[in-house]
Amino acid sequence: MTMTDDPHGIDLNDPDRILEIAKANVDPDEVVHAVKDNADALFTWDYGKGQRAALDKLYEKAKRSQWNGTTDLPWETEVDLDAFEPVSDPLETEYFFDHENSPLKGMNEAQRHEVDLESFKWSLSQFMHGEQGALLCTAKIVETVPWIDAKYYAATQVVDEARHVEVFARYTHEKLGGPYPINPHLRLLLDDIINDSRWDMTYLGMQIMVEGLALAAFGFMHGMTNEPLLKQLLRYVMSDEARHVAFGVLSLQEVYDGFTAAEIRERQEFAFDAALRMRDRFMRQEVWQNLGVDEYDMVKHMLDMPWELKAFQRLLFAKIVPNCRKLGLLDAGDGWLRDRFTDIGVIEFEHHEDTSEEYIDFDITENPVEAA
Ligand SMILES: [Fe+2]
Ligand SMILES: [Fe+2]
Repeated sequence: MTMTDDPHGIDLNDPDRILEIAKANVDPDEVVHAVKDNADALFTWDYGKGQRAALDKLYEKAKRSQWNGTTDLPWETEVDLDAFEPVSDPLETEYFFDHENSPLKGMNEAQRHEVDLESFKWSLSQFMHGEQGALLCTAKIVETVPWIDAKYYAATQVVDEARHVEVFARYTHEKLGGPYPINPHLRLLLDDIINDSRWDMTYLGMQIMVEGLALAAFGFMHGMTNEPLLKQLLRYVMSDEARHVAFGVLSLQEVYDGFTAAEIRERQEFAFDAALRMRDRFMRQEVWQNLGVDEYDMVKHMLDMPWELKAFQRLLFAKIVPNCRKLGLLDAGDGWLRDRFTDIGVIEFEHHEDTSEEYIDFDITENPVEAA
């Protein structure tokens, strides 16, 4: 199922390649991280609102669907970490703790609990950092997109993302005892997206890839967790995120229609590089370092996981693959991206629902959240 030789000339399943990137971790004392933004800020003198009807509809929807992270969530909820129930995939849990080759085999209940808890803290920390990436990227889109309807919509997304950073930061600091630093694979991906001079690449990297994965991950965690504050927080965030991914799909369709084969190929490669960085970040090296587990052995064990047990890892691509299909990126040229998504075992999602209309189902004003 999984091919290890990629036309890029890299071995997709080489633990050393993944750990090499992990060494480029952030300076633990760094408070501000600067990234060069190479894009032009564009004014438009065409103020005609509603020329792009789908984007205009999304903008009007976003204005009606705002919520307040300070007052709409039950922050008084006590989160008891000792009684914390794991929110991981049961198949993965069994493979981690009981498989004969696992570095975690033989752990007692307390040690298992620690792995589950640290993995949970790590996941929510990466959500928080990813949300800040979204905040910066959408502020950039306000500047760089040439259409007034998209600037209006993106401005609402900036507010959404500020709220998401705020609630994940509050949750990790108040309820989990503080976050993990950003994962290097995620940081490099966010740096690349912000660094790129082409405005449509911000959309592809952030709105389609990072947000598509986040929407799937939030949905998984929302379904698994029994913690009422987190459950409600995720439900509210998902209401916004579904709009965000729709924004990416609706905007890029128009742009890609006018692209040459060579330009599309660059987008295919960018999408795959982003997918690989996101898959690799889920190896969560920081957790293994923190717990004193051998990172190489653990990353290798995770890469060796049989395809049928990787339900959660595959699920993360459940939104990305159909959205890439809708944009024509899967089969453009010689089907390069289809082959790559086949290599990493996620092509099965191509016919799932794309997110250009799905945001209506997620919307909290259309489908209100039941009181906690
Ligand atoms: Fe967000
Ligand atoms: Fe978002």
